[in-house]
Amino acid sequence: MKKFLVLNGPNLNLLGVRQPDIYGTETLDSIESYIESYAARKGFAVEFAQSNHEGYLIDKLQSAMEKFDGVVFNPGAYTHYSYALRDAVSAIGIPVAEVHLSDINARESFRAKSVIAPVCIAQISGKGKLGYIEALDLLNAATSYAE
Ligand code: DQA
Repeated sequence: MKKFLVLNGPNLNLLGVRQPDIYGTETLDSIESYIESYAARKGFAVEFAQSNHEGYLIDKLQSAMEKFDGVVFNPGAYTHYSYALRDAVSAIGIPVAEVHLSDINARESFRAKSVIAPVCIAQISGKGKLGYIEALDLLNAATSYAE
């Protein structure tokens, strides 16, 4: 069974209370349950992690290399400036799909640039929680069974 990590970065633990006009009213827990039931229906396993700390996200990406077939990654604001996370994504050799709940191209100009997207298989932005589902489908299509 394929296994994917769904990794969320800073401030995404505040979903539900954080700027609901932009990010909606659903909590991260609720979005994760939604992803989990989709994954179960499709027959792959998912694991979830969230952190407000860049180093933790790097450690998690590095350890994903041996444990997962791919990563769905919402790096939060790190998207726009973390070369360390970009390097981690490049280093691990498994596909990573970048997801943003909001449309980063339709907000402040600093959000339109992702330093991580160029090393990801795709960037999905502005589709809310459905973006995570689309990312899982892309990762599923981009990976094959080891045996
Ligand atoms: C975000 C977009 C980022 O610009 C922002 O810093 C976030 C959330 C999104 O999911 O829309 O924290 O990644």
